[in-house]
Amino acid sequence: MDLYGKDLITTQDWGKEGLDEVLALAKGMKKHRYEEPYTEILKYKTFFMFFYNPSVRTRQSFEAAATELGGHAQFLEPKAMRLKSKDKAGETIEDAASIMSRYGVGLGIRILEDAVEQYGDGETLLREYAKYASIPIVSMAHDKYHPCQGLADLMGLQEHMGDVKGRRITMMWGYSSMVRSWSSVQEDILLLPRYGMNFTLAYPEGFDLDPEVIETAKKNAEKAGAKFEITHDRFEAVKGADVVYSRNWMSPKRYAVGKEEDQKLALQYKDWRFTSELNNLTNKAYFIHPMPVDRGNEVDDEVASGPRSIIYDIAENRLHAQKAIMALTMASGWK
Ligand code: CP
Repeated sequence: MDLYGKDLITTQDWGKEGLDEVLALAKGMKKHRYEEPYTEILKYKTFFMFFYNPSVRTRQSFEAAATELGGHAQFLEPKAMRLKSKDKAGETIEDAASIMSRYGVGLGIRILEDAVEQYGDGETLLREYAKYASIPIVSMAHDKYHPCQGLADLMGLQEHMGDVKGRRITMMWGYSSMVRSWSSVQEDILLLPRYGMNFTLAYPEGFDLDPEVIETAKKNAEKAGAKFEITHDRFEAVKGADVVYSRNWMSPKRYAVGKEEDQKLALQYKDWRFTSELNNLTNKAYFIHPMPVDRGNEVDDEVASGPRSIIYDIAENRLHAQKAIMALTMASGWK
């Protein structure tokens, strides 16, 4: 399948065949990390990154990915640019996207809720860049999705479990004073049911996610012969689970009330933590999390560092998955 020039804003935009191609190449690249021809794929080429919000793994893994492919990744914070905004004259997305397309082979953008006024504005911005750029636009996490994290999660689960079809994942809201984005969790809610995983989503009342995403996830699950269910009982939710993903996410009120008020809403659910006690109810579940993980709040320390935690494998997979994405979408003729 020819993926050259393709944007990656969410895995939902891609067919499974393309995703499988990324995963297969990522696994090969992990095995033969510094070997040719992989080290030549982006020789002398530049990948650009615009970060509206902070990052550790995403920035470092994309920079390392470009280096390992023989190229270079270059970083800009939009606040250091002169971009047009609602109340400020400046460079348009059309101009910025067109010029980046003359310099480099791809553009990654991170824009989370702290950098936008309303849910969906980040996604709109990425799609606007994609409209004008002639190079692939890659989401490095935006207000709706985090495709690179989703692919790294799936890759890690396949490495540890083989085919994930028919296995059960519980995604559980966990308390944290770090009010977290919907991007990573929504990506997995869409992606993992497509691969036949039975999905249980557990959260306290009031912490609903995007209803359109949930509807699409249900359709994805139905198509793959998998179950998708929502519960507000975390004890029932984790019983017999093969994988547990416990993470904080903001409430839908976040945009209207602001981060601090949203944090206060979460305070009443401090007992929502994936504890060792809950872990004992699972089917020796693998623990996953996109990180940074809030140990002692979202999850007990001994679970996060326990023998079934694969959080570091998945963090490493960000690098390999992104190398594969870059190779397939940004290097002409690479298969
Ligand atoms: N998982 C993830 O995207 O981590 P960073 O926010 O540190 O990039």
